Amino acid sequence: MATLWGGRFTKETDDAVFSFNESLSFDKRLYKADITGSIAHATMLGKQGIISDEDTKLIIDGLKSILTDIENGTLLFDTKSEDIHSFVEANLINRIGDAGKRLHTGRSRNDQVALDMKLYTRDEIDTLSSLVNDLLKVILRIMEENVDTYIPSFTHLQKAQPSNLAHYMGAYMEMFLRDRDRLSDIRKRMNLSPLGSGALAGTTYPLDREYVASLLSFDGATRNSMDSVSDRDYLIELLSACSTIMMHLSRFSEEMIIWNSNEYRFIEMDDAFSTGSSIMPQKKNPDIAELVRGKTGRVYGATMSIMTTMKGLPLAYNKDMQEDKEVAFDAFDTVNDCVKLFTGMLDTITFNKEVMAKSAMNGFTNATDAADYLVVKGVPFRDAHGIIGQLVLKCIDKNCSIEDLSLEELKSICDVFDEDVYDAISLKTCVSKRLTKGAPGAMLEAIEYYKSVIN
Ligand code: ARG
Repeated sequence: MATLWGGRFTKETDDAVFSFNESLSFDKRLYKADITGSIAHATMLGKQGIISDEDTKLIIDGLKSILTDIENGTLLFDTKSEDIHSFVEANLINRIGDAGKRLHTGRSRNDQVALDMKLYTRDEIDTLSSLVNDLLKVILRIMEENVDTYIPSFTHLQKAQPSNLAHYMGAYMEMFLRDRDRLSDIRKRMNLSPLGSGALAGTTYPLDREYVASLLSFDGATRNSMDSVSDRDYLIELLSACSTIMMHLSRFSEEMIIWNSNEYRFIEMDDAFSTGSSIMPQKKNPDIAELVRGKTGRVYGATMSIMTTMKGLPLAYNKDMQEDKEVAFDAFDTVNDCVKLFTGMLDTITFNKEVMAKSAMNGFTNATDAADYLVVKGVPFRDAHGIIGQLVLKCIDKNCSIEDLSLEELKSICDVFDEDVYDAISLKTCVSKRLTKGAPGAMLEAIEYYKSVIN
């Protein structure tokens, strides 16, 4: 066991206490953030004359060699250090001696861990944003290829009105664009450096907090040292944004599972993204979509876990906050994998255009348009609604669609009907005449906009 704080203790830590307390087993993934932060801190200490130029150089070179050795596998994480901060510092002291002992001047593990988590989280935001962007590109491609692919749309999972696949995909496009915006908002809000806040009350050393913040590409230094070491809002915000991404992916997955079912057959998932059954040879299951839907709960759980951990904490740092890491790391890995896998699955889906178009024609999806036809001819909408309702009843009786009725049959219910009704309620008209902003007929303009914001 190697700790940074043995001086005032007269006994060794109990083994069970050590294992309960240690975090190296999971915060080792902060090694790069920790070393990067320490290099910046040492550079600032040197610039301010708090440590000598010679020590500054020894520390920076030592830290760089630790980073190289971790990355090439020659330096392994031991089981003796309490956390990643202790591990790196102890290793540095082993390598360069006394100079290494000066690194922690004017710093506490409290502002150090706050910094490391922020640096790590900021990278995660960039990775996730780029994965969401890849997904947006696939959605855009499908939209461009399917402006004329007819599809029924649903409310209550009952057929509602005809649409096109571009419009359907456009709805998901909007959800993931909002997700991408949310990520960039969080990044902006969190981008202040806590380094130099010390344990909670700053330090008496003449630190240059703005300088060290700029070395680490922050927009500035945080304004209150107590808040800096006890703030995990940015994690909660990010996990909440991740939960929303998962919710969107889960809805999309559910939709694709339904469309892939034997009953719908709107799509065919690629063999590479499906799995089989151990007993039923005919099966091809949409496991990826189901797993994405299932893993959503795990990310929600992480959000709730950190919110609950934080809710009773007095200022400032409390060890409870160490519990932020495992759940956050797991949630980040999960959402990254889900976006990546879902994107691959979506990119390889085959759309059964004929099945979709046929389905769009059945189920009286043109009933609203038939009523609108009568309205244009002067019938009040409420009356038109009633007339088409009667027509639908007649069709159900005859097992046919509205357009299958002869003009005489139509006129027998309302004599306003004329020959032009057939064109007015055709699938093509129903979709392409819906030209209001955001409607299926306006997807070419929408696609132009999406092209301008997706790169
Ligand atoms: N492993 C700790 C964490 O993750 C580091 C901070 C320790 N600070 C302290 N005062 N014990 O939160």
